[in-house]
Amino acid sequence: MRLLIIHGPNLNLLGEREPSMYGTQTLEQLNTCITDEARELGIAVRCMQSNSEGAIIDALHEARLNCDGVIINPGAYSHYSLAIADAIRSIAIPVVEVHLSNTAAREEARRISVVAAACRGSVAGFGCDSYLLALRSFAKKA
Ligand code: DQA
Repeated sequence: MRLLIIHGPNLNLLGEREPSMYGTQTLEQLNTCITDEARELGIAVRCMQSNSEGAIIDALHEARLNCDGVIINPGAYSHYSLAIADAIRSIAIPVVEVHLSNTAAREEARRISVVAAACRGSVAGFGCDSYLLALRSFAKKA
């Protein structure tokens, strides 16, 4: 099984960005955790990060050609990007949304995810473990 992991806007600054909300782990360290867990589960992963909505949409389109699924943290795009939601609905492979923070417990604007409705499921609030739980959901479905 091959999965694409997409980290959305501002996640390149993990570790220095609002550490009380998002933790002190850098994106590189998070990607190492994801890759190690995936290896244990027999899943091949490729990780990418982009601050650009268009690049994320292009990556989703490309994933349909060479991946079995996608794990995406769309960052703030979760809350308003119908374009990313449409891209997810346009590809046949399953997509799982993840968030480091518990968005349901944050400001009102963050409680809505227009992307979540296009996904197989969502995992939020477990910090870096949100990604590992999403990986496990794919291992279970395999
Ligand atoms: C986030 C939650 C979003 O509301 C926020 O804009 C982010 C990070 C999370 O992982 O908790 O950039 O997606």
